[in-house]
Amino acid sequence: MKVLVIGGAGYIGSHVVKALLEANASVTVYDDLSTGHKINLFAKAAFVEGSILDYGRLEQTMRQGFDAVVHLAAKKAVGESMENPELYAENNLIGMVNILNAMSKSGCKVLVFSSSAAVYGMPEYLPVDENHPLNPINFYGFTKLESERLMAWYDRLKGIKYTALRYFNAAGYDPDGAVKGRDSKPQNLLPIVKEVVDGQRECLLIFGNDYDTRDGTCVRDYVHVSDLAAAHVLAIRRLLEGRPSAVYNLGTSNGVTVKEVVAAAEKVTGKPLPVRYVDRRPGDPAVLVASSKKAETELGWKPRYMRIEDIVKTEL
Ligand code: UD1
Repeated sequence: MKVLVIGGAGYIGSHVVKALLEANASVTVYDDLSTGHKINLFAKAAFVEGSILDYGRLEQTMRQGFDAVVHLAAKKAVGESMENPELYAENNLIGMVNILNAMSKSGCKVLVFSSSAAVYGMPEYLPVDENHPLNPINFYGFTKLESERLMAWYDRLKGIKYTALRYFNAAGYDPDGAVKGRDSKPQNLLPIVKEVVDGQRECLLIFGNDYDTRDGTCVRDYVHVSDLAAAHVLAIRRLLEGRPSAVYNLGTSNGVTVKEVVAAAEKVTGKPLPVRYVDRRPGDPAVLVASSKKAETELGWKPRYMRIEDIVKTEL
């Protein structure tokens, strides 16, 4: 199977490339290296440096002929999307239109898209399943939802089959150490904890300890990036078998508090992790946990990393 991984030098993309190579796929990475890293490229995968906003280059690349495309080239910082919606509209929406048009022109019919739990907005019930109402509360989540809707139209009108994988909190790194590039200005909890452990930051600021949860801090569903990567391989295979387009949540269904993440990091390093409690971050739900039953049943996906300590170990 010949797969084009757009955004394959990024955090999740490079793990997807590794999983595809291990499944004996022939892989080409298409990435503009704006946030991805050259050191995340695998020798066994071909590389085309290009942007999803460069329609000509994208279509020319797709004309090489691919059985499937994986799209992980969207911008992903929630806060930045609210301050700079233009950047997110251009990259995430126009970029998605370009990918779909290039697929339509080049005849590629299978697309796996990295979506997000951010499409749901504030949870109305828990665990969140795929039938939960879709009410994004940030522009990033809106771009993910609109991308899913675009794919649904291109399925109806152009026969492009898609799978949207709605990740909950992606975390951890390849346990073999094959992925080395780190985000330069991390916004997510685990990479920030890593910076504190490495002495690059004085302490972790914990956003709120007065939530209605078991220890007052927010509960999230951290899912290991290698488990996410495995789901992409399963999703491609399923679509290539001729199954219909689908949407899946990917999480472990285990809710973990920020304090529990800190305790896990302390256990792994054997050292106390300096923290400071600050105000709540606007837009943070108290609890966000996935039901991934559909992915288990239809994709045969089962996360291997179920304990936060095992996930944190691979991050630090
Ligand atoms: C959000 C999005 C998610 C998206 C991810 C990517 C929603 C509902 N979720 O996840 O879809 O993929 O961003 O950026 O929009 N925390 C601290 N201190 C810190 C950083 C984080 O206490 O310095 C806490 C947060 O309050 C939260 C938890 O750690 O409770 C995880 O935060 P984060 O890693 O930013 O992810 P989400 O906001 O859950």
